[in-house]
Amino acid sequence: MTDQEKSQRTPLIVGDIIDAIRGVLRKHDVTFEEYRAGFMHLMQLADAHEVPLLLDCYLNQTICDIEMKTRQGSRSNVEGPYFLEDAPMVTDTIKVRGDTKPLLIRCRVKDLQGQPIPDVITDIWFADSNGDYSGYSEDFPKEYFRGKTTTDSDGLYAVMGSIPKEYPMTSNEHGPTGTIIELLGGQGMRPQHIHFKYLKEGYAPLTTQTYFSGGAYLKEDPVGAVFDDLIHELKEEDGVAVLDLNIVLDPAA
Ligand code: BEZ
Ligand code: FE
Repeated sequence: MTDQEKSQRTPLIVGDIIDAIRGVLRKHDVTFEEYRAGFMHLMQLADAHEVPLLLDCYLNQTICDIEMKTRQGSRSNVEGPYFLEDAPMVTDTIKVRGDTKPLLIRCRVKDLQGQPIPDVITDIWFADSNGDYSGYSEDFPKEYFRGKTTTDSDGLYAVMGSIPKEYPMTSNEHGPTGTIIELLGGQGMRPQHIHFKYLKEGYAPLTTQTYFSGGAYLKEDPVGAVFDDLIHELKEEDGVAVLDLNIVLDPAA
């Protein structure tokens, strides 16, 4: 898509969003009082800095589903609100701290023809045992629980990290996102997962997640992002848990 085509889409999409919301207001004969209550809820979301959380909870997976209409390689999955551009480069270990179990993350990256892809920069990030992501407070620097690594000439990387735990989407279950999850009859725990972002010139960027077989909340993920082909069974080698991944990148559009 050219830059001109992209900029022409923006007013169309924004206009359609407004039309779609107007359609909901008309469908339910929404009163001024209800409209103001929704308005105030949005203000609370902004005040609590929960806008990214709510949008990524309900809309990010839909964008991944749209992407999957044209992808032939590995499945894209929710990026979520905790990706940081400037994670540290790591060679073989992502720093962790606190109550964690070691996990070797080993991955082979190939193209659609099965050829290994070297020099793929892979961002890896996951939560600590409290369900927190690093880089969002001074006492939890981004040097922990995240890192960028690169595939070798065989399209392989292997880094030590830790097995993440399931965590609550929001630390305030009665906050503006928590109350929406409850209102819609959902539950707020995300299953155990690790985030990945694969980047290499000439290939479509891939953002995805990995889930763990047998884990809790796989069937009731509040984000609706768990797919069977993203669920992996851990192996054990020399007493250490190992996650083996095979990733296929699509060529750039
Ligand atoms: C996450 O996986 O980190 C996440 C995704 C969507 C909303 C909140 C968190
Ligand atoms: Fe996450």
